[in-house]
Amino acid sequence: MRALFILSLIISAACLYAQELPSGSSLLGAYAYDQFEKPEACQSCHVDIYMQWRQAMMSQAYTHHWDEIEYFDLAVAHAEKKPELKEAVDGCNGCHTPMAYMAGDVTPPRPEENSRANESVNCDVCHTIKGYTGEPPYNYSFIASPGRVKYGAKEGQESPHHDTQYLELYEKAEFCANCHNEKSPFGVWVKSTHLEWEEGPYSEQGVPCQQCHMPKAKGRSAKMAKEGMVAQHLFHGAHVPSKVAGSIEMKIHPRERELPWDGAAILKVQLFNGKAGHKIPTGSVEDRIMWLHVTATDSKGNTYHLPVDKKGFEGEQYTIAADVLAYQDMGVPKGIDNFKGVQRDGVPVGDRIFRMPYFDPQGRMTIMQWNTKTLGVDYRIGPRETKIETFTWMLPKDIPLGKVTFRAELNYQKLVKPVADFLGVPEDESEIMPISYATTWITVYN
Ligand code: HEC
Ligand code: HEC
Ligand code: HEC
Ligand code: HEC
Ligand code: HEC
Repeated sequence: MRALFILSLIISAACLYAQELPSGSSLLGAYAYDQFEKPEACQSCHVDIYMQWRQAMMSQAYTHHWDEIEYFDLAVAHAEKKPELKEAVDGCNGCHTPMAYMAGDVTPPRPEENSRANESVNCDVCHTIKGYTGEPPYNYSFIASPGRVKYGAKEGQESPHHDTQYLELYEKAEFCANCHNEKSPFGVWVKSTHLEWEEGPYSEQGVPCQQCHMPKAKGRSAKMAKEGMVAQHLFHGAHVPSKVAGSIEMKIHPRERELPWDGAAILKVQLFNGKAGHKIPTGSVEDRIMWLHVTATDSKGNTYHLPVDKKGFEGEQYTIAADVLAYQDMGVPKGIDNFKGVQRDGVPVGDRIFRMPYFDPQGRMTIMQWNTKTLGVDYRIGPRETKIETFTWMLPKDIPLGKVTFRAELNYQKLVKPVADFLGVPEDESEIMPISYATTWITVYN
């Protein structure tokens, strides 16, 4: 009898040991807030890293205005009307405020209530990630292990405040993939930055995300540390103009330098993604657009807008700015019956748009990635890819003779403006961010 009892004890202990540590959706409620240290506990020693993190989107992933608006006004409101979406909407927190998710604090309090959910993606969440489940990692598939040991990419680090342990994972793109790959409830990849990187040239050459978003520079990682090369916690992306600027290099040339007044100018624009390790746009692709605007200015100063030539591929209509409505599914969470939608693009009609449209279950374009059933044509520019756009322009009958200059401008927008305006998202989210421009000229003769 007693032996049996001991045996059953041993078996249950073995079972417990073999039981997997929680990751992904099993993280929900698996830990408590108290098990994680506050970022301010790290600040006293990791002075610079703390301030860098404060200025990065990582520390605002839950509190930033557009995050709050999309989460509460669209996602949470949508799940209230469609309970089958609740799991996915709770899951927003798995990446945007992982601590709240792990504490089972969903739906977390609004940012104005100043709860610990506001810590967003904090130091201790990242530095107690011990591994991940599944290949590739996606939807907060990390294994959390809060406690005294802080994991990192260096060996033999010593700290008076905590233990440290080297894990190769911290130097790998898969670490980031836990949150930068996302699948919708319909099984669609609605965020695939790591997958884009993986099939591009940088993964082959061993250049992970960290080399471009956490570059190393000489300094001290902690007040009492020796000088060395320190990973800067910049996480600079689409909210940093200098990161976006020049990420696509551009040139434009005419087929002929000299044209008779009744001729047609044919211009080619080459767009080269020379700076990003993934496609542009990447990440929140449902929100983001990049567009090419070309104008001509004649010798008298009149300016003309040139629409892009069609190429004829399937789904191309989504890549040329038009006067059409979209995003009707926002009507459900917003409580508007038969919502007609808002303008799809909000940029000059005829401009080429580099994007990938997301479609709701009714086949309408959506910015609600949790409501995405299919994806449309992928017309983004891949890492080290070059796309060429052509503009054929019949010279206007009354064009004055002399020089005509052409200007190609490439711009970026984090959130299409008509959606930002409809939802009342502050201006900076839909500001026009210049990526690059190029010019050329022709001479018109009689
Ligand atoms: C009392 C000072 C102090 C505090 C507080 C502190 N650290 Fe450290 N930490 C250090 C020192 C010192 C090192 C070693 C730096 C070196 O030698 O380059 C270190 C190293 C690290 C490393 C590198 C580990 C590796 O192997 O690469 C990480 C990660 C880290 N700390 C995270 C944290 C986090 C997260 C917090 C807050 C929860 C924190 N630290 C709080 C002093 C501190
Ligand atoms: C625990 C989840 C998580 C992990 C791990 C993570 N990120 Fe993020 N990251 C986020 C979230 C959420 C945001 C969005 C912040 C916001 O709401 O705008 C973000 C934002 C960013 C941004 C800013 C994008 C912008 O729009 O400006 C960059 C760059 C970035 N992450 C890079 C990385 C890199 C590189 C790694 C790996 C070293 C990484 N992230 C690991 C969750 C994570
Ligand atoms: C999104 C996840 C993420 C967040 C948030 C984050 N870190 Fe890190 N941290 C990393 C990664 C990844 C590395 C290793 C980068 C590398 O070496 O390529 C790192 C490296 C470090 C190092 C070692 C730096 C060096 O090169 O010596 C310290 C110390 C550290 N982090 C502390 C912190 C502190 C303190 C915070 C909060 C203020 C913080 N981290 C927030 C992911 C994160
Ligand atoms: C070769 C350098 C390089 C590598 C490698 C790289 N990135 Fe980027 N990343 C950039 C540049 C440049 C931008 C700005 C242009 C843009 O928005 O795409 C950027 C932008 C981003 C953004 C913001 C996108 C947006 O529109 O909000 C995120 C998020 C991001 N990167 C995450 C990652 C992750 C995760 C990885 C690894 C899987 C990675 N990056 C690898 C250079 C790089
Ligand atoms: C798998 C992790 C993950 C999940 C789940 C997730 N997000 Fe995100 N979210 C991110 C990352 C990473 C970014 C940054 C990508 C980029 O910069 O383009 C982001 C960006 C955003 C942005 C854009 C922020 C900006 O300032 O441009 C909003 C808004 C947002 N998410 C809301 C949500 C909502 C609402 C949900 C749930 C329905 C959700 N997210 C689910 C990881 C996630």
